[in-house]
Amino acid sequence: MAKPYRTSITSHQDGRIYVYGYDLINLAGTGSFTKAIYLILKGEMPDKNSEKMLDSMLAVAIDHGVEPASVVAARNIYSGGSPLQAAVAGGILALGEYHGGAIEGAMETFKKYEQAGVRSLMEDFAKSGLRVLGFGHRYYTSDPRTQKLIEISKELGFFGKYVKFAEKLEEEFSKGGKKLPLNIDGIFAALLLEMGFNPKTGKGFFIIARTPGLVAHVVEESLREKPVRRLSDKDIEYDGPRPRK
Ligand SMILES: CC(C)(COP(=O)(O)OP(=O)(O)OC[C@H]1O[C@@H](n2cnc3c(N)ncnc32)[C@H](O)[C@@H]1OP(=O)(O)O)[C@@H](O)C(=O)NCCC(=O)NCCS
Repeated sequence: MAKPYRTSITSHQDGRIYVYGYDLINLAGTGSFTKAIYLILKGEMPDKNSEKMLDSMLAVAIDHGVEPASVVAARNIYSGGSPLQAAVAGGILALGEYHGGAIEGAMETFKKYEQAGVRSLMEDFAKSGLRVLGFGHRYYTSDPRTQKLIEISKELGFFGKYVKFAEKLEEEFSKGGKKLPLNIDGIFAALLLEMGFNPKTGKGFFIIARTPGLVAHVVEESLREKPVRRLSDKDIEYDGPRPRK
């Protein structure tokens, strides 16, 4: 009879830890954290270029200031008196479809339409009224993180069909009224497909990249700010009923 938990990720044998058959201890001193992340999410070791590409992606996504919803959530949770782990987890919960959580969907979209072409995607999305995941940004009209990752992808051999397709889409969007740049989720999606990752890993990569940033913000909150954050009147516009009986 099958046992209740099945896994092909990690095993223990003779007091040693094997991840997909590789002795984990041997990664210390010979590999990087990025190499271990690649191994655990792909099931195989990266070559030098894959390691460098993924490392560049994780590095540029580590933080984006105090403004994003996830950081505001994490800092507020901490300031209410909850511990660091609750605050960081709360920040991660804010990584939804509009903020860091669009990678899986963008990967599925690119896979579906790369063959069918840009026109077909534009028509389908225009009909459905849905937003094309991986495009648009509140702050950028051209995302410098995306531009840098595309540059690196050309050097390392990852400027393949998905990155080209994403670039074509960005170009198509630039013809419309509102410029919708290929954002960090979109370029992650294209590059993860180039590297052969399953779309199910997509959201995980953003969580992995952004968690150190969230920890830094929560630690800063703990060292600099007093409890408890509270909005002031100048931040609030009340437009409900006036006091009444
Ligand atoms: C990231 C995002 C929330 C930024 O939004 P924004 O720049 O503030 O834009 P708004 O939400 O004000 O939308 C403005 C208009 O652009 C449209 N728009 C924005 N992003 C769009 C997208 N990806 N696809 C299609 N239309 C989009 C909106 O529908 C809206 O149209 P309308 O004026 O006709 O109603 C938005 O671009 C988005 O939802 N992108 C898709 C999800 C995504 O990629 N998330 C990861 C972000 S890193």
